[in-house]
Amino acid sequence: MVEHQRRLGWADVEDYLSATLVQGGSSMDRVLRSIDDAGMPRIEVAPTEGKLLMLLARIQGARRVLEIGTLAGFSTIWLARGLPDDGHITTCEFLPEHAAVAKANIAAAGFADNVDIRIGAALDTLPTLVGVEPYDFVFIDADKGNNIEYLKWAVKLGRPGTVVVVDNMIWEGTILAPGKDPDAAAIRASLDFMGSSPDLDATAIQTVGTKGWDGFAIAVVR
Ligand code: DHB
Ligand code: MG
Repeated sequence: MVEHQRRLGWADVEDYLSATLVQGGSSMDRVLRSIDDAGMPRIEVAPTEGKLLMLLARIQGARRVLEIGTLAGFSTIWLARGLPDDGHITTCEFLPEHAAVAKANIAAAGFADNVDIRIGAALDTLPTLVGVEPYDFVFIDADKGNNIEYLKWAVKLGRPGTVVVVDNMIWEGTILAPGKDPDAAAIRASLDFMGSSPDLDATAIQTVGTKGWDGFAIAVVR
């Protein structure tokens, strides 16, 4: 192997895949700039995962999406791109200042009429959604300590066949030895929950790339 090849790693391949296959365009560039400008954490999904969400929504034939954890709207816009013109996303964001950034990004991407941002604790918002038309697709990417509660809500607000995707399920492998990291313990507990829930058929996939070693879980509501 020549010298320059040895220095290449997962992040380089990720950049190549993003440039070659994902091509998020100016809307996505705008979101990333807005995150930096607002001093928000750079914890949005990787472009490859964002596009996966779009593809999964399309494969599912989803029209109604529930997202828990909006941040700057990066994943929200990817999901919106996977929906038909009359598609709808309800997205829950704890922090009003993050929601304001997301709202501007979502409008700039052309999805203002498709996305309803609910500000506040998702556990306060979710009960208000009981009785609305069931969601076809749920994306959970918020405070990890509430993953199990969010999964229970996904089942309650979904229907048989609803697809549920949960971000950050590997957490650099710390799920196997959480130690004092409460997030690692909570993520592990939510994987155990998915594996034993009679309401969910689930698996999880490990990922490497620009965000290091992580992964996501995917499930279908029974
Ligand atoms: C981190 C990454 C995430 O995708 C997330 O949802 C929360 C935190 C992180 O790397 O810290
Ligand atoms: Mg995440």
